[in-house]
Amino acid sequence: MKRPSNGACRRKMTPKRRPRIRAQRSPSVEVGEARITPARSARSAVRWLLRDPDVEVHGETLHQFLDVISAYIFGYDDSPCVGKLDDALESQLLCAKIQFERELLDHWLPVVAEPDIASQGEAASYIRHLALDNPARSHRLFDFIESEATVDALRIFLRTEAMRNEVVDDEVALCVAGLQGPMKLAIVSNLWDECGRGRLDNFHTYWLRRLLDVTDDWQGLRRYRTQERPWFAQITTNVFNVFLSRPGLRLCGYGWFAMNESWVAPHFEKIVRGLTRTGLYNSEVGVYFDAHIRIDPVHTSELLGALEVQEAQLSKQQVRAILRGAHAALAATCAQYDRMHRYLQGISAGGARRGAA
Ligand SMILES: [Fe+2]
Ligand SMILES: [Fe+2]
Repeated sequence: MKRPSNGACRRKMTPKRRPRIRAQRSPSVEVGEARITPARSARSAVRWLLRDPDVEVHGETLHQFLDVISAYIFGYDDSPCVGKLDDALESQLLCAKIQFERELLDHWLPVVAEPDIASQGEAASYIRHLALDNPARSHRLFDFIESEATVDALRIFLRTEAMRNEVVDDEVALCVAGLQGPMKLAIVSNLWDECGRGRLDNFHTYWLRRLLDVTDDWQGLRRYRTQERPWFAQITTNVFNVFLSRPGLRLCGYGWFAMNESWVAPHFEKIVRGLTRTGLYNSEVGVYFDAHIRIDPVHTSELLGALEVQEAQLSKQQVRAILRGAHAALAATCAQYDRMHRYLQGISAGGARRGAA
């Protein structure tokens, strides 16, 4: 498969047309090509969502809308406003964004309240301990990937990983804004790594390109992203973007990122073992995973070390925001992994049934 002409890995290669999104049983939410209903309609949709007891219907509608917002924030090709200004549309989008984010954080995402900690040192040590033992780190999705997933399921899982990780450098870049001192240094150090320490062929997105080249799956990724992926494949991307795009939640993003970096290595080790078990592993497929197994423990330690020694000192409210972000990372990641695990189990079982028939 040839690369697309712009050679890009991220969503820039996504076709501009997005499937129309419509909330089931609700006439209120529509996101078509560069179009969204007026904010009044979005408010009605949120009221309807609040009444619906089905967490899956609720989540699907929320995340389909937040997907559009994530693309809008970064200006990717699947943004309804790519390459142009549209004051009326953007006013409506931003108004609806705030309402849907409120719905997400207050009603849909089950975030455990953060502990009453005021000191930076205690907060760093709390996250350090939590990072060693939590349900996202030990999630059974990765035991399944390591020991049971079929080749078909693993190929789809690789697309999900590519789709999730192709945007990380832009997310880290947004994380930098508004920080100062050691915490800014820790994020910038991470961004420097994301951007290949100044070498284009070591950009982490370029390692993903190598994976796509060798698995001949550029077209498969494009199809998966635009047509086939389940709505829950974007939960973590969407929640992180809420934090990155709301100035009042920026420090939640720092806590989110520190937590998220902490489980990358143990997860990737299991992914590499799963790929090896099924014969899918080679150095081109593995370059992205192997490098992160080495560097993400360092990133975690830099992020938490910086929190410990941050100057100017953070207020209690700021420390609590970082802890809230760490807890939100746990909640969103488990929400995505639980569903992805069931989804991939279904794909593995379907393949086994076809083989037995
Ligand atoms: Fe990376
Ligand atoms: Fe990292």
